[in-house]
Amino acid sequence: MMKPEIQTAMNAQINEELFSAYLYAAMVNYFEEINLKGAAKWMRIQVQEEMAHAHKFFEYMVSRNAKIILKAINGPKSDWKSPLAAWEAAYKHECHITECINRLYAKASDMKDPATMQFLDWFVNEQVEEESNTSDIVAQMKMVKDAPGGLFLLDRELAARTTGAAAAPEAV
Ligand code: FEO
Repeated sequence: MMKPEIQTAMNAQINEELFSAYLYAAMVNYFEEINLKGAAKWMRIQVQEEMAHAHKFFEYMVSRNAKIILKAINGPKSDWKSPLAAWEAAYKHECHITECINRLYAKASDMKDPATMQFLDWFVNEQVEEESNTSDIVAQMKMVKDAPGGLFLLDRELAARTTGAAAAPEAV
């Protein structure tokens, strides 16, 4: 049986993952509004990834007979001052999620819950990927600055995303 303190922390992480999906859905709409269709497509896939992350936590808790308590999801902001600002917000958010996962991992360790530590290993690796993906795009956005040609080419590249490199197949 999962200890109550871990259950509470895991429930909070389900909420964080669902909020991530909400945030990136808001970014889909932002990018659509400014006609960056490639960025919008990239973010649509990211929404699916975040839903898969939440689902993975959900199913793990079910498998441990843990109590799942779904809380209200906060509304994300819906506008950014530039495409670069949106990507910077995505990177900052992924750094926040990394901190959440690291805290969760430390708690599982403190509570002597090796099964949960093993479960979280996947997320530890996934966050390396999540931070790297968004920070690479921030760097590329800074390179093209406001040059329409560069932004157009970068958007075409973002449109090539077909799926998350580290998607959780068992969770979708
Ligand atoms: Fe589920 Fe993007 O972290």
